[in-house]
Amino acid sequence: MTKKILVTCALPYSNGDIHLGHILEHIYADIWVRYQRLIGNEVYFICADDSHGTAILLKSIEININPYIMIENILYDHKNDFLKFNIFHDFYYKTHSKYNYFFLKYLIKKCYKKNIIFNKNILQFYDYNKNIFLPDRYVMGVCPKCFSKNQYGDNCIICGSIYNSLNLINPISLISNKKPILKYSNHLFLDLNFLKGKIFNWINNINLQKNVFNQLFIWLNKDLINWNISRDSPYFGFKIPSKFIKDKYFYVWFDALLGYISTFYKFCKVKNNCLFNKFWFSDSNYELYHFIGKDILYFHGILWPAILDILNFRKPTNLIVHGHVLINNYKMSKSYKNFISVKKWLKYYDSDSLRYYFASLLSNNINDINLSLKEFVNKINSDIVNKFINISSRISRLLEIKFNNILSKKLWNEDFYNFFVKRFKIISNYYSNFNYYKVIIEINFLIDLVNKCITDNKPWIWLNSFKKINYLHMFCTTILNIFKIISIYLIPIIPNIINNIEIFLNTKLNWKNFSKPLLNHKILKYENIYNRIKLYTLK
Ligand code: 2FM
Ligand code: ZN
Repeated sequence: MTKKILVTCALPYSNGDIHLGHILEHIYADIWVRYQRLIGNEVYFICADDSHGTAILLKSIEININPYIMIENILYDHKNDFLKFNIFHDFYYKTHSKYNYFFLKYLIKKCYKKNIIFNKNILQFYDYNKNIFLPDRYVMGVCPKCFSKNQYGDNCIICGSIYNSLNLINPISLISNKKPILKYSNHLFLDLNFLKGKIFNWINNINLQKNVFNQLFIWLNKDLINWNISRDSPYFGFKIPSKFIKDKYFYVWFDALLGYISTFYKFCKVKNNCLFNKFWFSDSNYELYHFIGKDILYFHGILWPAILDILNFRKPTNLIVHGHVLINNYKMSKSYKNFISVKKWLKYYDSDSLRYYFASLLSNNINDINLSLKEFVNKINSDIVNKFINISSRISRLLEIKFNNILSKKLWNEDFYNFFVKRFKIISNYYSNFNYYKVIIEINFLIDLVNKCITDNKPWIWLNSFKKINYLHMFCTTILNIFKIISIYLIPIIPNIINNIEIFLNTKLNWKNFSKPLLNHKILKYENIYNRIKLYTLK
C-alpha cells in the first residue's frame, strides 16, 4: 500500500550561507526521499528558513540592512543553494510568516488553558555597552566545573557539563568583549514535566537509534528544566501579545519548531490540497520524519513532542539523527578557516561527488562525518571513475567498433546477469534503513565483480575471431546491462551522473522494471560520463 510521508530537515538560520553541515543533512534526507518515491510512496519534503533570534538581529546590524529585507534575501539564496545540489524541496518557506504566528498564538493559548505557563523574574547577563541581554552563546568564561577557559554560557566542550550561564567564572560578553552586568527581567516559562509520561511512551514506541533513545531516556529520568520561551528586547522575532507579558519576544526555538507545521500548512494552501489535517491531527496514520543533527536532539526529542501534545497534534514517526560534519578531522567553523559554503564547494567540485562521498559515510547513527579532502578525491576517482564508469567506457568501445552501438538480441549468461538483479532486495533494504554506506559497499562489490569478469574474459581478443563475434556481442550487451542495473541502484545518490548515463544508454533508467534488459537497442556513442577530479585547497 502506498504510504504518505512528510520529511523535514532542520530549518537553517537566516543569517548566513548554506554550508556543508546543512548539505550533509539534506543529502541524507534527499536520498531517502528519492528512494521512497522510487518505490511508489507519496512523499512531501519540506523545509524553511529559521528567521528569528539574536544572531539574525546582530547580523543585520553588522551588514547594516533591515532584518526583514535581509531574511528575504537570504531565503532566496538558500533555496538556490539547495537546488545546486539537486535537493528539490516540495516547499521551502520561512518561520517569519503569518501562518507561523497563527500557530504560535494558538499554542500559547493552549498553554494557558492547561495552566503550564508562568512568569518569573530572573537574573541575566546584560551587556551595558550595547544595551542588550546576552543569550548563553554570547557569553564566554571559565567553566565552573573543570576551570577550562573560553567556554560558552551554556556548556563546556572540554568536560561536557551543562550549567547555568550565571555560574560561569569571569564572564565576558562576546558582543563588546566587556564584562557583562547582572540585571533582572521578567520571563515566561513552560513547565513540561506533566508530559514526561507521554514522551516516554512515544520514545518507547518508535524506532529510535540506540544512543538517541538512551540520551532521551536520561533527560526524561530527571526533572525537565522549565523552558524560558521569552526574550528581551532588542530581539528579532514575534512580539509576545502584551496581555501576557510586556515588551518581550518569543524565543526563536519556540516558533522555529512550529515552522514544520506552518510550512506544510502554507504548502497545502498553495497546492490547494487538503492533506494538512490528515498529516497533523492526532489520529494521523501518515508518517512524519525529521532529519536533525545530534546537537538539537533536546529540542526535537523532548520539547517538540511536548508542543505537539499540547496542540493535540500527532507525534513524529521517527527522528533521524546524524553527527556533525568535520573537515579534515576539525569541526567546521569560520574561525578555524575551514568553513565550506555551497558556493565555495561548487567553485572546485560538483555536487554528485559530495553526494556520493557523504552517502558512503552515512549510516543510521550519530557518529561524526569526516570529510577528508584527500580521501574524498581518492574515493571519487577510484570508485566512480576508475571502477564504475570504466565499465561503460571499456565495453562501449567494443560495441562501437564492431556493432555500430547496437545491443545484441540475447544475453550472454543469464545466471550472471540475474546475480546482479537479485541484489535489489538487499540494496532496497539498506536504503530503507538509512544505511547508505552499506549501499555503497554492496555496489562496489558488484562493480568489482563486473570488472573482474571483463578482465578474466578479455573480450577484446574475440574482436578478430569470426567464430566468436556473436559471443562478443552478447558479452558486451550483458555487461552493459549489468552496468545499467548498478546505475539504477545508484539513482537516489548521484542524479547528474545518472542523467548522463541515461543519455549514453539512450533510455530512461527505470526502478520498477529495473531487471528488464536492453536488447536489440541502439545506444549513443560513448562520451565522458564523469571526469577525474583533483585535490585542491579550498579557499
Ligand atoms: O540549529 C539550527 O540551525 C536551528 N535553526 C534548527 C531549527 S529546526 C526547527 F526546529 F526549526
Ligand atoms: Zn568544563
